[in-house]
Amino acid sequence: MPRKILVTSALPYANGSIHLGHLVEYIQTDIWVRFQKMRGNSCIYVCADDTHGTPIMLRAEKEGITPEQLIDRTWHEHKRDFDGFHVEFDNYYSTNTPETRHYADTIYTKLKEAGLIEVRAIEQFYDPIKEMFLPDRFIKGECPKCHAKDQYGDNCEACGAAYQPTDLIEPYSAVSGAKPVRKTSDHHFFKLSDPRCADFLKQWTADPAHVQAEAANKLDEWLQAGLSDWDISRDAPYFGFEIPDAPGKYYYVWLDAPIGYMGSFQNYCGKNGLDFDEYWKPDSTAEVYHFIGKDILYFHTLFWPAELHHAGYRTPTGVFCHGFLTVNGTKMSKSRGTFITAESYLNHLNPEWLRYYYAAKLNGSMEDIDLNLEDFAARVNSDLVGKYVNIASRCAGFVSKRFGGKLGEIDRAATVEYEAAFQTGAIASAYEERDYGRALREIMRLADVANQYIAERKPWEMAKQEGREAELLEVCTTAMTLFRDLTLYLKPVLPKLAEQVEAFLNIPPLAWADIWAPLPAGHVINDYQHLMTRIDPKKIETMVEENKQSLAPTPEAAAPAPIKHAQHQQNEAKAEIAASEEKSAWEPFIGIDDFTKIDLRIARIANAEHVEGADKLLKLTLDLGTETRTVFAGIKAAYAPESLVGRLTVMVANLTPRKMKFGLSEGMVCAASDERGGPFLLAPDSGAQPGMRIK
Ligand code: 2FM
Ligand code: ZN
Repeated sequence: MPRKILVTSALPYANGSIHLGHLVEYIQTDIWVRFQKMRGNSCIYVCADDTHGTPIMLRAEKEGITPEQLIDRTWHEHKRDFDGFHVEFDNYYSTNTPETRHYADTIYTKLKEAGLIEVRAIEQFYDPIKEMFLPDRFIKGECPKCHAKDQYGDNCEACGAAYQPTDLIEPYSAVSGAKPVRKTSDHHFFKLSDPRCADFLKQWTADPAHVQAEAANKLDEWLQAGLSDWDISRDAPYFGFEIPDAPGKYYYVWLDAPIGYMGSFQNYCGKNGLDFDEYWKPDSTAEVYHFIGKDILYFHTLFWPAELHHAGYRTPTGVFCHGFLTVNGTKMSKSRGTFITAESYLNHLNPEWLRYYYAAKLNGSMEDIDLNLEDFAARVNSDLVGKYVNIASRCAGFVSKRFGGKLGEIDRAATVEYEAAFQTGAIASAYEERDYGRALREIMRLADVANQYIAERKPWEMAKQEGREAELLEVCTTAMTLFRDLTLYLKPVLPKLAEQVEAFLNIPPLAWADIWAPLPAGHVINDYQHLMTRIDPKKIETMVEENKQSLAPTPEAAAPAPIKHAQHQQNEAKAEIAASEEKSAWEPFIGIDDFTKIDLRIARIANAEHVEGADKLLKLTLDLGTETRTVFAGIKAAYAPESLVGRLTVMVANLTPRKMKFGLSEGMVCAASDERGGPFLLAPDSGAQPGMRIK
């Protein structure tokens, strides 16, 4: 019996471009969906743009267009990028639609009837100039913990502390710059703290089919800590759906984004004559899976099932969570050019290369995956071009030139390994479990088997020798069947390449069951056309360079990032939310070994004096306890020499001495500065002694 499956990927925000980080999820999901379809299951893949919220409203305003115009433009860009990577949704929709509004209203009303909605007055920051309440991300100020300036209202990027916006010192509105005032208004809450929710969720999350083991541990911690009620409304002005019985109040994102899955599916049902309820009624036999990133685990495994259950719908069959993408071992970075948009990738490279590489790295766990650009080229070139395509390119020519494209009988002895592999079902179960890395390792092992067969039989020698035609045809026919099998196995990952191969082999679209029968004797194949080129590393370099230039951080781009989910009330979950985008131009990450190479010491300023002829420098004599050093420091504008004598500061003690116009400088003192002022010399806490190591 074919399974009835509905699959979703997280809805991307409608105010940003799709980048390689997003694509981990869409490619992962698309491979799974294509695999299910090849198996003969009904598998419907829906998604949509997540179009509501303050950031979208403000961005449209800034661009001088309506939010509707903005989300329409973004929808087309997103759709273009997904098409470019062969991510084949059955329906790609929007949350700003009648269907999503209908289900949002239905769910809200049912939760209200169940006594799970509560209205409470809460005090929030309000921008008196802009006349709007400010989301956490639009309030900035000084971190209450480390006193770094210009930190966001929910957490500090300098020290990592999470806090409430009301804790910020000297807060200001990132929208207008105004000093925000505190203002009270009524908010609607979903009572996640109600024992009915906790009881249900304890049971729901304990089922290993619903969540991965790694996720279950995290959920258990959250459940132990106790769930907080969830603020599901926002005040006007807001771009979203107004709550029917609460004029001026709008559903906040988590009460319409996941409902967008239902909206998109309803829209699909309408176009295809399917029954929505058959999939969403509580006792439905259809399967529903959500593919998500680990930053939104809380919402999909606690908030969402509780919401669905208490509104009288079925809950997901499974939530499949993946990790984040790193590029060359670190967070994607605009300054390093590794914050790569889908569009720019497609301008330079073949989408199937990335699909293959991601698949090779994905194993169904929540671990982060790394796109190492050197390894990427090496892997694709060796596996796809060197092993897989090589099989066809070495044998196909003989079939067309010597036999008019007509195949003969296959060499059964050569297919033993392939038959065994098919019998175990190892590749299918690896795909099913989303362990694509395991599937590809097995496929490449089979490619090695085929290459070895060809290398042993040497068809190119047979072609040169008289009377070996039959043998030559048998070897090439066998190679073509093995190549067909490999293509079938790779098809979920490489759908376009598989199409080209289907055309070349002159066969209908490959389905999983086709593996049983070899290509029949007498079947005529077409002439071989070149299938895939090797990755030229220069193209990768060009792409990285292009991203460095076009995406160099601007103050504007670094401003409000639309991280709506960072507003939720669980501090622990907040700590998990590491946005995968780099926020500003920090130096690249270094290991602790790199840091310890710098010998930082406490030094006492034994003497400080002006330097004749130097406008910026002071000459410092630094006492390190066991020796003294002379250092010329560019701090004259900020310090009178006599004010420094006797002070403790921090010096780099192992900087190679540098000959300067005024003498030898034997180290460096550390000071902070930027456009707001400085230099400010560092000073240790009391108790520190000259010569102490800083680590
Ligand atoms: O985190 C996000 O990217 C949001 N746009 C929500 C996506 S998932 C969903 F529920 F729509
Ligand atoms: Zn801080």
